[in-house]
Amino acid sequence: MTPFAIQNGVLHAESVPLPAIAARFGTPAYVYSRAALEASLREFQDVLSGNPAGTGALVCYAVKANSSLAILNLFARMGAGFDIVSGGELQRVLAAGADPGKVVFSGVGKTAAEMAQALDAGIFCFNVESIPELERLNEVAGRCGKAAPVSLRVNPNVDPKTHPYISTGLKEAKFGVAYEDALALYLRAAALPNIRITGIDCHIGSQLLDPAPFGEALERILVLVDRLSAEGIAIHHLDLGGGLGIRYRDDQVQPTVADYLTPLLDRLAGRGLQVVLEPGRRLVGNAGLLLTRIEYLKPGEGKSFAIVDAAMNDLMRPALYEAWHDILPVVPNAGDTSVYDVVGPVCETGDFLGQGRALCVDAGDLLAVMSAGAYGMAMASNYNTRPRAVEVMVDGGQVFEIRRREAIPELFAGERVLPA
Ligand code: LLP
Repeated sequence: MTPFAIQNGVLHAESVPLPAIAARFGTPAYVYSRAALEASLREFQDVLSGNPAGTGALVCYAVKANSSLAILNLFARMGAGFDIVSGGELQRVLAAGADPGKVVFSGVGKTAAEMAQALDAGIFCFNVESIPELERLNEVAGRCGKAAPVSLRVNPNVDPKTHPYISTGLKEAKFGVAYEDALALYLRAAALPNIRITGIDCHIGSQLLDPAPFGEALERILVLVDRLSAEGIAIHHLDLGGGLGIRYRDDQVQPTVADYLTPLLDRLAGRGLQVVLEPGRRLVGNAGLLLTRIEYLKPGEGKSFAIVDAAMNDLMRPALYEAWHDILPVVPNAGDTSVYDVVGPVCETGDFLGQGRALCVDAGDLLAVMSAGAYGMAMASNYNTRPRAVEVMVDGGQVFEIRRREAIPELFAGERVLPA
């Protein structure tokens, strides 16, 4: 589905013209489409329910991609579970109406307090990433009088062929336990009194447009499942992580969820394993855009700049990963284009949203930075004491403010100066 399209010469979100959103809520603004969010989750649910190995599967949305309560709540209403990486995300999903029994807890640095909180909530599974973490969890669970449900996150050492900062399944990564050590670690886990082994987990990286590495990872994990079973350790669920990519540029081919999942599910036929998935970007990335206004056009020697009111603090991906986001004029003009770097007001050379873009624009025009629904607002900061943007969700012809723009006094409300 295309939630953002030109109608009558103006870019719309569903049936709302973006200039109306800018006029009502100001810029910069994150704009999400409810229909697109729901369609992307439904695509997973449909493929899973149509395949015998997928029925009973759990889609645990990776909250880190976009933790807006309204989005979490929509997914919870559709029956999704959640993949969290902090006590903060646990509180968020509970506040959004999540079923704690559908929550998996990932991450390499869980504190004892976070473990206790998650045990108390009754989450589905802890994805444990190291032996010291396993030992701590055993201890905390003992203190809470509970048995902690556990998967070990195994590093299958598969190259996802994506940006090095978002590759996680290689040997060198800080994530997971080494494939070669996994069997011994499971045996150790099985001997701990307050640990209940329920599954096995892997996540190899993010923004994968080629599904092949997922298949390679699955093969390696299944070898382990069989070895574990021979040792008397039964695995009930297989968590294949997230990572399915999205189209950021027209020349990228986005695999369908069926392209990605069907071969995996077919391979699992008859094994009786519950499948858990942790998609983040794929559920929200193309369901959101960042709406921004051009403050100035600044012609320069060799390079011209379109200086906009959104910046790297609003959308860090271009600065951090040299990520490419399409940038569209909200009211396209047919005139001659000039080439611009689209930059923000932050005092850093890396503060760009796009470089070398051919645009026919004037100061005051609105631009839409596309595919900004994932890792956009979630990674936003207050750098340069800039309030974080407003977020709105469009539903057909209606627009809901789902998070108000921060007010500047809020940004330093928690700060104190020293006594005189
Ligand atoms: N599960 C685990 C354990 C993860 O570490 C991640 C993402 C996911 C699931 C979700 O992956 P996804 O389906 O979204 O690819 N900030 C970066 C992406 C970082 C991904 C971190 N882990 C970006 O903007 O590209």
